[in-house]
Amino acid sequence: MRRIVLDRTSEPPDVHRVSVSRGLVDHNVRVRITFATAELAPLVSVGGLAAAASGLVQALRRADVEVDVLLPDYGGVTLDSEERIHLDLPDWAGPGSIRIGDHPAIGRVHLVDVPGITRSHPYLQPDGRGWLDNTERFLRFARAVAAHVDATRPDLVHLNDWHTATAMAAIDASIPSVLSLHNLAHQGATGAEWIPLIGERGHHFEWWGGMNPLSGAIALADRIVAVSPNHVGEILTPAGGFGLDGPLRDRGQAVVGVLNGIDTEVWNPSADPALPAAFSPTDLSGRQASRVALLERLGFADDGRLLAVCVTRLTDQKGIDLLEPVVPLLDEFPLRLAVLGSGERDLADRLAVLGDRFGDRFAFVEGYDESLAHLMFAGADLFVMPSRFEPCGLAQMQAMRYGAIPVVTAVGGLVDTVPDAERHPRVGRGFIAPEPSVAALVSTLHRAVRRCGDRRRLETLRRRVMSVDWSWDAPAAEYRAIYRHLID
Ligand code: GLC
Repeated sequence: MRRIVLDRTSEPPDVHRVSVSRGLVDHNVRVRITFATAELAPLVSVGGLAAAASGLVQALRRADVEVDVLLPDYGGVTLDSEERIHLDLPDWAGPGSIRIGDHPAIGRVHLVDVPGITRSHPYLQPDGRGWLDNTERFLRFARAVAAHVDATRPDLVHLNDWHTATAMAAIDASIPSVLSLHNLAHQGATGAEWIPLIGERGHHFEWWGGMNPLSGAIALADRIVAVSPNHVGEILTPAGGFGLDGPLRDRGQAVVGVLNGIDTEVWNPSADPALPAAFSPTDLSGRQASRVALLERLGFADDGRLLAVCVTRLTDQKGIDLLEPVVPLLDEFPLRLAVLGSGERDLADRLAVLGDRFGDRFAFVEGYDESLAHLMFAGADLFVMPSRFEPCGLAQMQAMRYGAIPVVTAVGGLVDTVPDAERHPRVGRGFIAPEPSVAALVSTLHRAVRRCGDRRRLETLRRRVMSVDWSWDAPAAEYRAIYRHLID
């Protein structure tokens, strides 16, 4: 089991698998929770929130926690054995209802319908800008979550990110609550006119003359969970708190860190339909076929140079622009690099130009292509993740499961999941750049290429990173310990 960080000062950066639940008795009483999220894979996936929410919900259910999972009804999802219930909502938020039914991939879900929530994309208009009424849409959704909690009286309510946070204003204070923070960069801050509307405890959401869903929920939730232990320390500082470090510090020991897991059935190189051949840490022979298929797909010659890949959203957070100046230098490492991703138009255009100019060493594939992502992790030597901040990060864990050695920046969950292989020869898993800068990336890539150029060392490291248990079992046990503690 991994550890929840209560005392950050004594936290060694790369150890995260110590038990937390010492002293807590595991009762046999079945816990019933309401879990609210704006995304849930595979129904609605924009970012890591979707995978994290569905991974946790499924692991909790396997552990016999009863979970009502509430998600906006954006449209287009068909459920089996569907029934509809109506919600009692204030005028500004309703009319509202919930479609409850079974989804083949995830089981029972609650799809919440409130005015304006049904859209072609959860957050964005077709031209890439946000919907103009995103604030109202999600405040209504959060109010509907509170109404459902009021009607069903679960043992605990678990909220995720700003889209659900204002539910805390209207939820009965006697119901224990957990708020997970997947990305503090998005807070949903808006005007003060919402304060009297969102609920009886709306005044807690006052923030610099306006209303901030996260500042209020941080003040009110019984536990605030950062999605990696290392990120806890970051969000308590002005540099990493996105303006909310003060309210977070005020909560003291209520702020804890639980590292996310990944879906180890979806990300499983020994049974993956996206790969030409299966492989595992004990039998790596099938991996070469993925390498050959990937090089061909990218239009690279098979000349023995190491191959690094990057699978990412193209946003400022992910630091992909830091790789642009590295592309012309790749011949000197020597190294080849391929980026798969979609997102900001400017960045995609610039990467496409680099791909045309340096096609012998750099390839850019624009888009969100899950099966190519699998092949890239399986066929690459290195996986590069130069994030400026990273609450947890899932791709580095997925890449390691397929034997791609991570080269990452020293931020957030990347620090927890990737101890540096040179600083920690026996337990290291990859290479850490001390900061998100071009210079730090260049020297770290040099280190990685030097070390992984030695095939024997590369293989030792590869077997090691592939053998780590990244499943949701341990994180879900930590969340259960938190629930149990709050309910007791
Ligand atoms: C957000 C964060 C990412 C995290 C994910 C799931 O997408 O940016 O670091 O892994 O949420 O918690």
